[in-house]
Amino acid sequence: MIEKLENIENEAMEKLSQVEELEELEKLRVHYLGRKGEITSVLRSMSQQPQEMRPVLGQKANELKEKIEEKLKEKEKEIEEKSKELLWEKERIDVTLPGKPVSLGRKHPVTLITEEIKEIFAGLGFRSEEGPEIELDYYNFEALNIPVDHPARDMQDSFYFTPEILLRTHTSPVQVRVMEKQAPQLPVRIIALGKVYRRDDDATHSPMFQQVEGLAVDRNITFADLKGVLLHFAREMFGEEQQIRLRPSFFPFTEPSAEVDIFCVICGGEGCRVCSHTGWLEILGAGMVHPRVLEISGYNPRVVTGFAFGMGVERVAMLKFGINDIRLLYSNDLRMIKQF
Ligand code: PHE
Repeated sequence: MIEKLENIENEAMEKLSQVEELEELEKLRVHYLGRKGEITSVLRSMSQQPQEMRPVLGQKANELKEKIEEKLKEKEKEIEEKSKELLWEKERIDVTLPGKPVSLGRKHPVTLITEEIKEIFAGLGFRSEEGPEIELDYYNFEALNIPVDHPARDMQDSFYFTPEILLRTHTSPVQVRVMEKQAPQLPVRIIALGKVYRRDDDATHSPMFQQVEGLAVDRNITFADLKGVLLHFAREMFGEEQQIRLRPSFFPFTEPSAEVDIFCVICGGEGCRVCSHTGWLEILGAGMVHPRVLEISGYNPRVVTGFAFGMGVERVAMLKFGINDIRLLYSNDLRMIKQF
């Protein structure tokens, strides 16, 4: 029996010193120390040994067990160290290798147009204002002279949080917010750029889009001032040759109201598919601020007048850059952004 233990020891030590992988090591552990392992079976067969030999054998077997355990631990550490070193070797950084190029970000076409619009109007003395995208029904509709049963209030067109709170459907509420704050001081001359929301989604409508609101209030402001400002804008944005055309229209918050077209930028007014062969493209709605809106916002409509307009920013960007689907602007496709 003693001899057997010695054999086990020699064999175990030799095998253990040759092991190079954790898996093999585990196999050996099971082989010697496992439930059916060699040492275990020696300990189990103890009862068949002569009484006086048992303590000596038991001690020996236990000593061997400890020795193997120790060796296993030692080996395990060794193998782990080695694999760490290998990994380190593999991951070592070669500082002489060329770097990966970092591609630079670009401005989105809508951002580019936004900046250009702000600049053009700043040149005419319009300062930039902002209003909340989550708006009260009061500012979005009521103060703009849009009665409760007006079709523009249709639940189909707006995203409501509660009956009183919604995502603004246009930037016109900023007119009221600005006048309310500034009244009765003159002049008011602002633009308000920002996101607006409607329940629409197709090639020319997105559920979120951006508008620029313009507002000028002072003594003696006329429709001619509106026309002059819009013509100046169209020429700065689309070129010296640009023309504008005003068509009578209706908005509850302006009177009179107009829709404003520019020469089709694709065909230059000749007529093409984009302009449905009319030569003209609509870019904004405008008009003289309705007396009720002036009054509700703190100005006396018998003393002051004003004009307002609201323009689709994506529309301008699409025309300027020749983009034919509004959804492309919000597809987050870098191949598209990189062209500008
Ligand atoms: N708010 C209008 C719209 O979204 C546009 C507009 C603004 C019309 C200001 C007249 C004056 O359609």
